[in-house]
Amino acid sequence: MTRKIVAYKALPSDVEAYLREHAEIVNVDAKDHDAFVAALNDADGAIGASVKITPDMIENATRLKVFSTISVGFDQFDVADLTRRGIVLTHTPDVLTESTADTVFALILASARRVVELAEWVKEGNWKASIGEACFGVDVQGKTLGIVGLGRIGGAVARRAALGFRMNVLYTNRNANEQAERDFGARRVELDELLERSDFVCLQVPLTPETRGMIGANELKKMKRSAILINASRGPTVDEAALIDALQNDTIRAAGLDVFEHEPLAADSPLLKLKNVVALPHIGSATHETRHAMARNAAENLIAALDGTLTNNIVNREVLAR
Ligand code: GLV
Repeated sequence: MTRKIVAYKALPSDVEAYLREHAEIVNVDAKDHDAFVAALNDADGAIGASVKITPDMIENATRLKVFSTISVGFDQFDVADLTRRGIVLTHTPDVLTESTADTVFALILASARRVVELAEWVKEGNWKASIGEACFGVDVQGKTLGIVGLGRIGGAVARRAALGFRMNVLYTNRNANEQAERDFGARRVELDELLERSDFVCLQVPLTPETRGMIGANELKKMKRSAILINASRGPTVDEAALIDALQNDTIRAAGLDVFEHEPLAADSPLLKLKNVVALPHIGSATHETRHAMARNAAENLIAALDGTLTNNIVNREVLAR
């Protein structure tokens, strides 16, 4: 029987052609929930991103062997449920590391130097004389960067910070990152110390029950009044209401955000009224090159997992041990 794969996100044509060499492809629009579920019920594998996959959606997907997400994050899945059903979950952790670290640094620079706010000010025709203190920002180079979660992307941010901007790097992580300590002078500290000492606090943790809401009113209060919060991980790691409050009351200086509690961010969000917020539409890995590499990587993960030859990029390795 021909293998069937459900693609629930548009794929680059060469990636789709690669998949067609190995299986029949069924393209579905995940917004059409019933059609998506019906397609899953009749598939061996699925590839896509940015759609919440709940247990009830795959209740009757008895043939389904592999979900391949075109993302590093896998918080859209109930991993324990997939494992129980014997479905392998694969992701794309390595190919997006550098582009995502670039996005983090864009947020750091844009927030510190008020790039977006001042560019808009110029476009509105306000630049009438040489600028004064009202347009000043704060330095990035030589400052202290606190990275909460020093994994792959955190490490790439640390490299930019230490080698490019001569920043001091503090970090929290479950385990020590010896390479970052050796190569970038990164120092592992408790979260409280990181919050108290950093000029930029940068969240690089995956969204899990432990990290959900880990930055709330208390944590924001511990930060310097001059500090800037950067979040390009997942929105719910921060209590957004507490963040809005902190930004409105100068508890912290500014925030650079690529992710939000609810995405797309509502047009009437108070965040969009604040000059000290740079808000991006979750562009972390969104370059032509990286998104293509991710789709390719996810397609190869999917076929290799169906063939039983995949050895890396597997979220729930336990399934293979059965
Ligand atoms: C993007 O947010 C990803 O998880 O790849």
